[in-house]
Amino acid sequence: MEEYRWGIFLAEADPDKLINFGKHKGGKVWHEVPGEHRADLMRLIVVQGDTEPASVEQQRILGNTAPSIYDLRNLFQVNVEEGRHLWAMVYLLHAYFGREGREEAEQLLKRNSGDLDAPRILGAFNEATTDWLQFFMFTYFTDRDGKYQLGTLKESAFDPLARTCEFMLKEEAHHMFVGTTGVQRVVERTAELMKEHGTTDVFPHGGIPLDVIQKYLNFQYSVSMDLFGSEQSTNAGNYYSSGLKGRWQETRRKDDHVLLGGVRTMRYVEDGEIKEKEVPLLSALNLDLRDEYVADCANGVRRWNQALEDAGLDERLFLPHEGFNRRVGVYANHHVSPAGEVLDDADWDARVDDWLPSAKDRKAVADLMVPEYEYGKFAGWIAPPKTGINDQPVEFDYVHLAEEGLA
Ligand SMILES: [Fe+2]
Ligand SMILES: [Fe+2]
Repeated sequence: MEEYRWGIFLAEADPDKLINFGKHKGGKVWHEVPGEHRADLMRLIVVQGDTEPASVEQQRILGNTAPSIYDLRNLFQVNVEEGRHLWAMVYLLHAYFGREGREEAEQLLKRNSGDLDAPRILGAFNEATTDWLQFFMFTYFTDRDGKYQLGTLKESAFDPLARTCEFMLKEEAHHMFVGTTGVQRVVERTAELMKEHGTTDVFPHGGIPLDVIQKYLNFQYSVSMDLFGSEQSTNAGNYYSSGLKGRWQETRRKDDHVLLGGVRTMRYVEDGEIKEKEVPLLSALNLDLRDEYVADCANGVRRWNQALEDAGLDERLFLPHEGFNRRVGVYANHHVSPAGEVLDDADWDARVDDWLPSAKDRKAVADLMVPEYEYGKFAGWIAPPKTGINDQPVEFDYVHLAEEGLA
């Protein structure tokens, strides 16, 4: 811990940097907050900042049940970096937004994940992280949402925000690595137990059944999809036109970067069916970002399925339909199955336990969560990683429990 540096890390400044999109396109980036965009910029920073400590609050109990010292170390890195991301957002509020910014920063300390009176701003950040499988799904799906949100803010015309987010994005890569490889290792262990015992029900053999892994995936994917907001949003269009928030990989897009008059299709529900309609591109930028995210999410699922294929199993994991279990946007107030059928209340109620983790599933997973704190050993429900971290061996003493008074 002595080597840990709290600090504000910014990507290198580029003195000739220009705004790449919106109505200020071609102008110089801003080094101070323009008065007309002050409230919107502060809101964007507060919402981003609020997610950072929230995930640490959600994950703080996991140290009690880490499946290995290797995993405990990764949990600590994720948490410490999220703390630093909060610090970075608070710095912007203090340095550029005066008294109001300081008050908003204070409020970030007052809200708490899952608190009934003062919850975190976004839904996914108030869900309980009940166990390590959920943590891995969280770092895969929800930290990946973070990657996409930061990707839009790193395009911002407000240069201090852009440079901060560019730095934060680098750290997010490790969080998603923890998620991708974490789920993969669970799947590998499950496949091993399925073959060994010739059954899909591996709970009695100390593993997590694939259908339960799929339910956890369904849950975390759907609550993370909600983080993108409504498919159609006037705010998102205004943020873009004003230069506050760009698109994912804005400069690589081959269009005019102003988007007036552009259109795209979007899906919606009408008369119990999923239909398509054409909408102005500028109104559908949340959807544009979400589509990029969905494509990225599919990559990990392919990897996990490769592990199943390599094990000689026919079962596969999949991403549920975009309308499944949604509380935000066009699918809110509709029931959509993972396969994309629109259902009535009765059908949904009858089948929801097949698709989302039930209390019983969570309990069975929680029962497997026993800490394994001997160097180089792993709990029985997860395979060891292929390699350690920072070129260290898997059995490296990543966390010094004795020195910390924990062993
Ligand atoms: Fe973060
Ligand atoms: Fe993260």
